[in-house]
Amino acid sequence: MSVQFNTKHLSKFVAEHEFEAIWPQVQQAHKQLEEKSGPGNDFLGWMYQPRDYDKEEFARIQAAAKKIREDSDVLVVAGIGGSYLGARAVIEAVKGIYHNELQDGLKIYFCGNSISPSYLNNILEICRGKRFSINVISKSGTTTETSLAFRVLRKLLEEQVGAEEANKRIYATTDRARGTLKELADKQGWETFVVPDDIGGRYSVLSAVGLLPIACADIDINALMQGAADAMEKFSNDRADNDAYRYAAARNILYRKGKSVEIMECYEPDYTMMNEWYKQLFGESEGKDQKGVYPASCILSTDLHSMGQFIQDGARVMFETVVDVKKPASDLYLEELEGNFDGLNFLANQNMSVVNRKAMEGTILAHIEGGVPQLMIEVDDLSAYNVGYLIYFYWRACACSGYLLSVNPFNQPGVESYKKNMFALLGKPGYENLTAELEAKLK
Ligand code: PA5
Repeated sequence: MSVQFNTKHLSKFVAEHEFEAIWPQVQQAHKQLEEKSGPGNDFLGWMYQPRDYDKEEFARIQAAAKKIREDSDVLVVAGIGGSYLGARAVIEAVKGIYHNELQDGLKIYFCGNSISPSYLNNILEICRGKRFSINVISKSGTTTETSLAFRVLRKLLEEQVGAEEANKRIYATTDRARGTLKELADKQGWETFVVPDDIGGRYSVLSAVGLLPIACADIDINALMQGAADAMEKFSNDRADNDAYRYAAARNILYRKGKSVEIMECYEPDYTMMNEWYKQLFGESEGKDQKGVYPASCILSTDLHSMGQFIQDGARVMFETVVDVKKPASDLYLEELEGNFDGLNFLANQNMSVVNRKAMEGTILAHIEGGVPQLMIEVDDLSAYNVGYLIYFYWRACACSGYLLSVNPFNQPGVESYKKNMFALLGKPGYENLTAELEAKLK
């Protein structure tokens, strides 16, 4: 099986009867999902999307990606949160973090995911004088970070190739019918793709939101969808051997024992952005009503040299979920060094992946000794198929986990608070009363 949840290192912390005890609640959560009777039930479009996705749009995505790969040196993707993380996570997991440096042809960069002028200046510098296209992604069409970056990029594109040609190089992924971006796209004649109404940002990576940039990276999006579809078949039931639900159950059992932080860990740096995607998925889904497991992440062994001390020995608030990638994208044979000047010949005559694996095994045992519960998600490799499979695994687990916590896993009311304050401080019309109040607080 390509993705498996393994609790072999958990027995010191959670007994099998605890899974049995929580299972009726898991079954209830499953029923709420399948019957669409739980909170947030108008955002369940992801559940059967790997089977029911819009095939006509999928073909248009493939055609657009082909055109972009042929007529552009650079694709800039402008989006934030759910309109950014999934695409970048899949691209870096499948193609590696150095895909732009190592892959011939189209380079892909992301922006609109911060308000940093220096970051945006770097992106502009990369695009200047190059043949570039823009994929602007925003469900609402009004997100400040995205709109600001897009405004600046569009100006550069129009200056370089003229308004008419620019219109052929801008692709807008947004609401099917509404919003500022949709209106502008229709007016300018940009090709548009849809963020489905019943799919929230953090569940949108297998819609055009993720698929267009991913296809542009020359990743087989058929394989990605097939992986998700096979996971959908595997995890859409309430049997006791459903790994996605067992993972959700384990998280909640540990949470109820006071473990309020989950550290998602992987020994492959290419997984860094998958961790970021996981953090949004679970953070926005569960962190509400003063509840939730705080999703954190580490890349190991890298972060053992920064966070290792805390995990081994600090406040006992966390559990770890290790993503065990069985086969790295490539391996490296370690040869013996004559003279053994660095004292490392004990590592020689084997693949480096063996060393990485021993580091993982040693760390798991040390952290168990330190009192940190260990969960494992095993995946054969980071192929497009398996990454699609993983995405669906996390989706199902997250939805169930949210219902086990008795929160609405599909809304994000807390995200609005900072925007309100930011707009007031920037003097956006309509926020005048709040402006004075906030400025007084900042004095
Ligand atoms: O999950 C979410 O809903 C958010 O992270 C959004 O994706 C993010 O705020 C971007 O929103 P939009 O796509 O409307 O620009």
